Amino acid sequence: MSEVSPPQPRFNPWRLSVAPMMDWTDRHCRFFHRLLTRHTLLYTEMVTTGALRHGSVQRHLRFNAEEHPVALQLGGSDAADLAYAAKLGQEWGYDEINLNCGCPSDRVQRGAFGACLMNEPRTVADGVKAMLDVVDVPVTVKHRIGIDKIESYDFVRDFVGTVSEAGCKVFIVHARNAWLDGLSPKENREIPPLRYELAYQLKKDFPGLLIAVNGGIKTNTEIAAHLQHADGVMIGREAYYNPWLLSTWDAEFYGDTHEVPSREAVEETMVAYMERAFAEDGCPWYAIARHMLGLYHGQRGGRYWRQVWSNHKLKPLPPREVWQQAREALARGAAVSD
Ligand SMILES: Cc1cc2nc3c(=O)[nH]c(=O)nc-3n(C[C@H](O)[C@H](O)[C@H](O)COP(=O)(O)O)c2cc1C
Repeated sequence: MSEVSPPQPRFNPWRLSVAPMMDWTDRHCRFFHRLLTRHTLLYTEMVTTGALRHGSVQRHLRFNAEEHPVALQLGGSDAADLAYAAKLGQEWGYDEINLNCGCPSDRVQRGAFGACLMNEPRTVADGVKAMLDVVDVPVTVKHRIGIDKIESYDFVRDFVGTVSEAGCKVFIVHARNAWLDGLSPKENREIPPLRYELAYQLKKDFPGLLIAVNGGIKTNTEIAAHLQHADGVMIGREAYYNPWLLSTWDAEFYGDTHEVPSREAVEETMVAYMERAFAEDGCPWYAIARHMLGLYHGQRGGRYWRQVWSNHKLKPLPPREVWQQAREALARGAAVSD
């Protein structure tokens, strides 16, 4: 009797993702984003192997069941430490372990990981192999296209070649160089020019690998254009500043036309979540509300709504009262027009 194979998902898990962003994509932010899209893959902030070896594992790894699919991004370079951290990540229920080879900050450079790892593909390969030896979930790498003034395609091609030989099948390519000297992390996300063609070329040269492209992508039209050349698209800042964009993705990129909740319904769910987080561990509402300030981006009255949710003077109030004030401000603002 022939075995019936399970139905295959129509789209690869990396088709769309929200980028790892330190201090932004924490579990509260991911809970919010998940209300807007069911299918998009969500990444954690970078968690260093040192933080997991020496800090509170619970603080760094805990997440809400609703967040799946969710990937843990690690920062580190020592193979044994990466294996230890990846195993913890799998035990905590993450769907993927991702290694950061793109962060240019001084702190990360002092620790000799992040973007400077692109100079050491063998070290990355050893780390990837060590992780793959101890976990069953996918191990993926997020990287840049070059370091400092290295502009040649061969550099990134050889990096991907070496790391893929160790078993990594998925590469997320932030399509600009990291300039390790003289630019801040913020400038490093803006100044080195974007060269998407290099990511596309990787797909041509390694057709068996999954290549997702990242960097400066803002609209669904742009996403659709990138998907003609790459397997996936990762969005960072635009997802954070304009989260309503996420609410269009299930229909537009996954063919899932379920009813999208209104902004009001999303806000109401977030208020209930704030109450839950406070009851569970005293988390103040403003640590959560800060991630949803873009919900009414571009809407009439949105500016007034945002002012309420970011008003420090309201910190002592319960979130339900702040919500009430925000709704009134939105209506008032819409009447006078932005
Ligand atoms: C506030 C902030 C924090 C970031 N933190 C990380 C991080 O922890 N790990 C990482 O790989 N990239 C990090 N990035 C880079 C993003 O993941 C992404 O590669 C970059 O912003 C380019 O994509 P975008 O133009 O869509 O924002 C961060 C970006 C921002 C804006």
